[in-house]
Amino acid sequence: MNRVIVGVESTAHTLSFGLVDHKGGTRPSYSAFFRPHEGGIHPREAADHHTKAAPDLIRQMMVAESLSSSDVMAVAFSQGPGLGPCLRVGATVARALAHDWDVPLIGVNHCVAHIEIGRQETGCIDPVLLYVSGGNTQIIARAGDRYRVIGETLDIGIGNMLDKFARSQGISFPGGPKIEVLARDWIDLNPDCTVDDIPLPYSVHGMDLAYSGLLNAAQQKITEGHGLEEVCWSLQEHAFSATVEVSERALAHTGKTELLLGGGVACNTRLRQMSLMMAEQRGASAVWPEKQYCVDNGTMIAELGRRMLDVGFSTPLEASAVNSTLRTDHTLVNWN
Ligand code: ATP
Ligand code: FE2
Repeated sequence: MNRVIVGVESTAHTLSFGLVDHKGGTRPSYSAFFRPHEGGIHPREAADHHTKAAPDLIRQMMVAESLSSSDVMAVAFSQGPGLGPCLRVGATVARALAHDWDVPLIGVNHCVAHIEIGRQETGCIDPVLLYVSGGNTQIIARAGDRYRVIGETLDIGIGNMLDKFARSQGISFPGGPKIEVLARDWIDLNPDCTVDDIPLPYSVHGMDLAYSGLLNAAQQKITEGHGLEEVCWSLQEHAFSATVEVSERALAHTGKTELLLGGGVACNTRLRQMSLMMAEQRGASAVWPEKQYCVDNGTMIAELGRRMLDVGFSTPLEASAVNSTLRTDHTLVNWN
């Protein structure tokens, strides 16, 4: 085993450990998911889940990767943003491991980690990132020494909107992948269907987005008697077109020519297809990492930790408190 950086991810539902070697060679993560029995995520219950799952996951990774503590160069963890109780579990585990292994501790920005794993895996250089997950929907681009948020949701994350709609229809968490299947089944059987057949609001506000009006309107369509599959299809079409429209404007404003998708919703084939069509029409590219690196994962935290370690960064214990509202542009980006 090469010298490696270990990453700990625990911002929300997912507890995950991952590693990269010192050149950025990635390895699949070791993850456990908290699934609420009913309703949304309860932060304390998710945190308890992570506490119980951590020891076994670490052991699994160490054994499967033939890893010994002397192979480890640093331990990185998600310092924010996310749910406080969940973040604190990951931070505590990371502090303990870094102390025990006598290596630097590196607190990293979860949103920035989505960008860096995407750059590492796809080879894109200076992308606009469309970061679409449950908790976050942001359009991000680098300007100088920061990743700037140039557009974002004004209310809920797009994944959260999909999950909420699914839950209201009795579909269990996570709803996004099941909505994707229902939507695909519908359009396969009804290829002539257009968005005008099931109109929903289209909420683009300058460079920002909003999804809660769309959620309410989709629920209303069901009440009016429309079928679940057709509403799922229209919901995706409206939500994704609005999101891709803002991404296109971001490419136009920044002059960048690469669109990178990240976050759990970036697993969606229709969103990928729309992004690709938009990019190709303007002579740009649209890329995304494998699904395992779109969803939250420890490997992306390790990869950002590696880049920060390379430029001499580490987090002293007294500065290692979590920050649940950490902003993307808070983090100084002084690596290539
Ligand atoms: P973050 O902390 O970054 O907000 P998260 O906790 O939402 O992340 P992720 O693993 O990034 O976790 O994303 C999960 C979200 O992705 C859920 O809302 C889920 O419904 C959505 N999702 C996953 N796969 C798909 C898919 N194929 N189509 C649409 N949505 C999807
Ligand atoms: Fe995430």
